[in-house]
This record gives sequence, structure tokens and C-alpha cells, in this order.
Amino acid sequence: MRISLTVNGSVVSTEVTPQVLLVDLLRETCGLTGAKVGCGTGQCGSCVVRVGDRSVKSCQMLAVQADGTEVTTVEGVANGSLTALQEALWEEHGAQCGFCTPGMTMSLLDLLEHESAPDEEAIRAWLAGNMCRCTGYNAVVRAVQTAVKGTT
Ligand code: FES
Ligand code: FES
Repeated sequence: MRISLTVNGSVVSTEVTPQVLLVDLLRETCGLTGAKVGCGTGQCGSCVVRVGDRSVKSCQMLAVQADGTEVTTVEGVANGSLTALQEALWEEHGAQCGFCTPGMTMSLLDLLEHESAPDEEAIRAWLAGNMCRCTGYNAVVRAVQTAVKGTT
């Protein structure tokens, strides 16, 4: 099937078989390896990207379902300079490993776009779909709070 979508502002038009996942299209066809396949079963959140104005787990979406949409990966977020969230993740040591951080970043940008001042409980609840298997969540939560306060 031929599909056409916009990825980080560039039109991508390509042939895919129906079973190709969005995450594989992004990584293998587009060469955007920020989204990772941590589990492939919708549990870990390392594959989160934005489709339209919402974050999605791209291992749970077929590439053909993204036909005609605008997709943003972590590579397309910083436009010349880091976002306030990314700055805060850096400042608060919330930029963890390469597996969880891209997905957490994309999820949290979605949270902050739809809720301007989430409290700690809301931040932790939102992160339920993003797993860290090692370091934890305290620094990430602190970073979101810092970004919300605008103190970066
Ligand atoms: S790889 Fe998609 S949720 Fe884990
Ligand atoms: S999974 Fe990335 S720091 Fe734990």
C-alpha cells in the first residue's frame, strides 16, 4: 500500500505492507531511531511519538493507520533549541537512558500541552505508560515541575 504522511515536517511517501508498524517505518524507512522498541507489546512507552496532537505508542499503530497524519518524533521536537521540558530534564538529571527518555519526553510534552500545571500525582499517573527499569522517576517528575514553574 502506498501511504503518505508528514514526519517532523517532511512529507514521506512510501510503499508498505499492511503489517508494518509505525515504529518500524520511522526507524527503518525514515532513519529516525529516537523511538525505541523496548517491548513491542504496548507496555514500556519507549516507542512514544506524536501523531496529530496526541502521543501514541508507535509499536501499537500500523504504518497505514498513520497515512495522512502529521507525526513528530523526539528528533523533531527541539527546533534549534531545547524545549523547556528538555532543558528541565537536563537540569534535574531527568535525562536518563536512550531507551526511556525519548518516550518519556514525547509523553510529557503531550501532558504539558493539554494540562498546563499538572501536580505530582498527575505527573506520576501520566508516566504510568512509560517504564524505567532501573533509575526511577523522581528526577523526571522534578523536571516536569521545574518546567511548569518556568525556572529553567
Ligand atoms: S515498544 Fe512500544 S510500548 Fe514498548
Ligand atoms: S529505562 Fe532508561 S534509565 Fe531506566
